Amino acid sequence: MSRPSQLEAGTARHYVAAPVSRVQGRIEVPGDKSISHRALLLGAIADGATRIEGFLPSEDCLATLTALRALGVAVQRPSDTTVQVQGVGLAGLHASTAPLDLGNAGTAMRLMMGLLAGQPFDSTLVGDSSLMRRPMERVAQPLRAMGARIDTQQGHPPVLIHGAAALRAIDYALPLASAQVKSALLLAALYAHGTTSVLESVQTRDHTERMLQQFGVRLERRGARIELSGGQPLTAGGTVRVPGDFSSAAFFIVAGCLAASEGLTICNVGCNPTRTGLLQMLKLMGANIHVQPHAPAPGDSGASEPTADIHVRAGLLRGIRVPESLVALSIDEFPAFFIAAAAAEGQTVVTGAAELRVKESDRLAAMAQGLTTLGVQCELLPDGLCVQGLGSGAAAGRFDGGRIDSHADHRIAMAFAIASLRARGPLQIDDVANVATSFPGFVTLARSVGLALQEQG
Ligand code: S3P
Repeated sequence: MSRPSQLEAGTARHYVAAPVSRVQGRIEVPGDKSISHRALLLGAIADGATRIEGFLPSEDCLATLTALRALGVAVQRPSDTTVQVQGVGLAGLHASTAPLDLGNAGTAMRLMMGLLAGQPFDSTLVGDSSLMRRPMERVAQPLRAMGARIDTQQGHPPVLIHGAAALRAIDYALPLASAQVKSALLLAALYAHGTTSVLESVQTRDHTERMLQQFGVRLERRGARIELSGGQPLTAGGTVRVPGDFSSAAFFIVAGCLAASEGLTICNVGCNPTRTGLLQMLKLMGANIHVQPHAPAPGDSGASEPTADIHVRAGLLRGIRVPESLVALSIDEFPAFFIAAAAAEGQTVVTGAAELRVKESDRLAAMAQGLTTLGVQCELLPDGLCVQGLGSGAAAGRFDGGRIDSHADHRIAMAFAIASLRARGPLQIDDVANVATSFPGFVTLARSVGLALQEQG
């Protein structure tokens, strides 16, 4: 086992959320985590400088930034949310003198594996105790098929990447729905001889494909197949504008569905259709949501990310059976969604979501445990959850107060903070320091719309 991560979050902090029953206002959420990681990584290997605006200054993205500096890339931060990356070109990275510590960031580790597999030097990747438990063979195996030499510890980090491997293109059908695996392979493909082909059985977020195109890489998309020829230089991206993170907006979308009797608007949210399955699920439940898309910038090639303002108003929610086709399109939103399900009339059933068991925590088990504490009946399934809602409208029941273990998972912590909108007593949510991995300023923003949320400890 490696040394513990220097980025290990403290565990003592907790939230206390007093019950309130109304949210309202007009807010913006911080920049998108997935897109911020990708802008840093592609900017680093581009020829020339890239400016990133709307960058998410969260612990996860700062772990990627620090790792790139250790690999010899000059990165400046003229402001918290503006980053200037001096790209070193495809062949310009240098060995880090120390293991690269990626903290809690699964995306950083998996995408770095793809980037580093074709370098002439060795790299070691480590993370915090949560990341050290997460599966890495899903990336290592196809990279080995490309010729990479990678060791994991029984499938987990530390990941040791041996340099100087000559990568060759492969034709790979992804056995699971994972944008991280797809993206790692596309990054490795830049360093491979020949044309790599990746086939997705289920569409996942396509930020890497869009941004590679923005950096001038030719990439063919034929239905579910993506083809990319190795050796293509990345032309510096000019300015990458990062939209608000849909996954952060999700907590406020659900909050609005529960308690925005006067309406709540979340502005400038990234609404890439490969991310917005939550909107479809909530609309199937009867939610009152209106999406106002922003006009694309003049000359937009279609590669950039669509944005919108999302207006939400409280209303009756009915339980649903979630179509499995929506699971990958809302994979990070299930903690928030389960709170909506618990507040709905009738039963909600989610299946086909076993991937939730290998996120920052086992999110199915963590949500079932927390909901049970709140007095909500739920059944944990091998690949999902069945939630018996307490009802909405005049017949609405209220959650019990109580103490929730977030399992150091940022999204579990934020989901239960939103549950205070339907609770009859205060909630204490333990181990919340990791909210900073994705959503700096969550407490302040939540309070600005009316939640009675305090961070303590
Ligand atoms: C991400 C992909 C998803 C998601 C994660 C971010 C990305 O993970 O859960 O938070 O940025 O590519 P998987 O690829 O494991 O589904």
